[in-house]
Amino acid sequence: MPFDSVLFVCLGNICRSPLAEGAARKVAGERGRAHRYVFDSAATADYHEGEPFDPRVGAVLKKHGAYFEHRARQIQAADFHDFELILAMDEENLRDLERLAPTGATARVALITEPWGGGRVSDPYYADDWACEQTYLELENLVSRWLGE
Ligand code: 4NP
Repeated sequence: MPFDSVLFVCLGNICRSPLAEGAARKVAGERGRAHRYVFDSAATADYHEGEPFDPRVGAVLKKHGAYFEHRARQIQAADFHDFELILAMDEENLRDLERLAPTGATARVALITEPWGGGRVSDPYYADDWACEQTYLELENLVSRWLGE
């Protein structure tokens, strides 16, 4: 399924969706295709508006050569037109996205695990450093599959 722009979405935009964005930037770069895509990430909630990553997320992204500058932001109505694909981390994100989507939204909204049977990406916000590393690896695997060969 071809797409040029992807918005990764989670609850706070300080853990899972920036991990996914960093992994996507890294994988596309490694494949010499960074110029083909626009990647961004956003929150369904406004709890952390303007804040940087959770510090554990920054450390994991640095470790994997996937670091980028980031400030958390809540998803806006325009994002549902500006991005072709919006990928959510869990069912709660999906429900929130349905509620937030404006009429006539054009983006395809899906769980990031959808093509491989669904299921949630566990949230390291409530866990330890190791969980953060595990979530990064899971997300790098998922975004690699979305980006194809
Ligand atoms: P994220 O993790 O959705 O992966 O960024 C969370 C961040 C913040 C909160 C919950 C989850 N919070 O309740 O503030």
